[in-house]
Amino acid sequence: MTQLKTFVLGAGALLMSGLAVVAQAQDAGGADQSLVERGHYLATAGDCAACHGDNAAGGLAIESPMGAIYASNISPDPVNGIGKWTLQEFGDALRKGRAPGKGWLYPAMPYTSYAGLSDDDVKALYSYFRLSVAPQATPAPETKLPFPFMRIAMIGWNFLNLHEGKAAGAIPVDGDQLKRGQQLVETLGHCSTCHTPRNDLMGEIDSQHLAGGQVGTWNAPNITPSKNGIGSWSDADLKAFLKTGNANNHAAAGDMGLAVEHSFSHLSDTDLDAMVAYLRKVPAVDGTAADAPVGSAKAINIADVEAMPGNYAQKADYASVTDGAALYLGACGTCHGINGEGSTDGMRPSLIKNGTARAYSPDNLIQVVERGIDRKTPSGHAFMPAFASQMTTAQIAALTTYVRVTFGNMPNGVVTEAKVKQVVAGDVKPSWLIANAATLAYVGIAAGIVILVLIVGLLAARRRPQAV
Ligand code: HEC
Ligand code: HEC
Ligand code: HEC
Repeated sequence: MTQLKTFVLGAGALLMSGLAVVAQAQDAGGADQSLVERGHYLATAGDCAACHGDNAAGGLAIESPMGAIYASNISPDPVNGIGKWTLQEFGDALRKGRAPGKGWLYPAMPYTSYAGLSDDDVKALYSYFRLSVAPQATPAPETKLPFPFMRIAMIGWNFLNLHEGKAAGAIPVDGDQLKRGQQLVETLGHCSTCHTPRNDLMGEIDSQHLAGGQVGTWNAPNITPSKNGIGSWSDADLKAFLKTGNANNHAAAGDMGLAVEHSFSHLSDTDLDAMVAYLRKVPAVDGTAADAPVGSAKAINIADVEAMPGNYAQKADYASVTDGAALYLGACGTCHGINGEGSTDGMRPSLIKNGTARAYSPDNLIQVVERGIDRKTPSGHAFMPAFASQMTTAQIAALTTYVRVTFGNMPNGVVTEAKVKQVVAGDVKPSWLIANAATLAYVGIAAGIVILVLIVGLLAARRRPQAV
């Protein structure tokens, strides 16, 4: 009896401990799963896919004034990706711009922003990329920048621009919501890499944080709470813009359209509210010029209608048309209204109110006409056709001039064909320092050699026994 009792008790204890082990294992599995899921969310908030691709295979060329920089393969492939990397190595790539096999990374990888990532966030991202992303066996092309932009030169650049343990330009804030907003805006969202102007050496100018920058030929507007930035936007508009890409008469095209599509539109409402709260705390900087104020609707000019060939409703063939107004009526009027007032349901924006038509810089307007808009978010699909293959640069100049002068309330808003050509070609003028870096480096080396020779000469002269 006692034996049986002992046996039952023993078996019971064994069963209990067995169950406990199973429960523990499940617990760990659950924790791992939530770590991977958090990593996935952080990767979305950091928009890693924008450069490294949806499958993390990389290969995208990021144009810089020094040449193309190729995004790496960050899938867990052991040869071409990060399959053999330790957590430490992965974290150093994200926060310090250092990677095994390469040494120093070029700042086309936004590590100056990701520098603010916490250890927990790095761990979550690492777990996600190692455990949940499929390995891709394709090598990313090798980046070859000309002298003197060797990887080693980034040590000097990092000394000036990398604030280890802190995202560039982040301001001190108190409270959980603001801290979360800061993490999303400054660190993961890396808004400043596009929205902050850069100095001659491509470093972000911290005193002009978020006051308007240039991404290739796109103009990323001032998003500080200044009158030239988002000062007049309501919290609801800002949130809606990040979530849908269209609010307060501003639409997101180009790089912002992509960031909204792949990243911001997938963030939770709580996180978007936190971002808006933090953006309100960023110091207001007037920076760039303000956009023109909203003007009034203009009556249609019958001479413009006469200048149009054929039938408006049938989408006239505007190939031979050079007049801006006639081009507008033929190519844009059906959607944006003959008077530029947009559609009544607001789906096709009013060009009288739209910020891009009133912007001090014509860059974004030229590119919206040239490339159109194709932005899919959980809230819907915004589509405007691209006109690059249908219009000459002279036609785009005439058309955008008409839009700016007539609807954008800018009597002097003339767009020259040379400007359109520059934007279409994607020509970004490097700063004088970067353009002349090779010469300067050679001069520096030559000067260094001369100084060295002089020093050696002086020392030798000193040592030489003086004849009396
Ligand atoms: C704006 C583009 C861009 C974004 C966004 C971006 N990266 Fe990168 N990343 C790059 C480029 C370009 C390189 C290669 C730089 C070089 O070769 O010097 C790189 C390199 C890396 C490397 C080093 C790999 C290697 O072998 O070179 C890692 C790891 C990495 N990125 C992870 C990430 C993660 C994780 C995210 C999202 C949180 C991310 N990146 C977001 C552009 C980007
Ligand atoms: C890859 C570059 C890039 C990144 C990253 C980026 N933006 Fe933008 N943003 C742009 C560009 C370019 C525009 C102009 C788009 C247009 O007019 O179609 C823009 C437009 C905006 C606008 C509308 C402003 C106006 O006056 O029209 C807001 C607001 C904005 N961005 C906020 C943000 C915030 C907040 C972040 C970070 C969470 C961010 N952006 C990250 C490039 C970027
Ligand atoms: C088929 C309809 C259609 C045609 C044709 C069309 N658009 Fe658009 N346009 C749209 C839609 C839709 C949007 C974007 C709405 C959104 O982003 O949510 C838009 C947006 C715009 C914007 C705002 C972009 C921004 O970054 O804020 C401008 C400016 C614009 N269009 C100008 C034009 C011009 C000029 C033409 C003629 C060459 C034209 N559109 C032809 C439908 C059209």
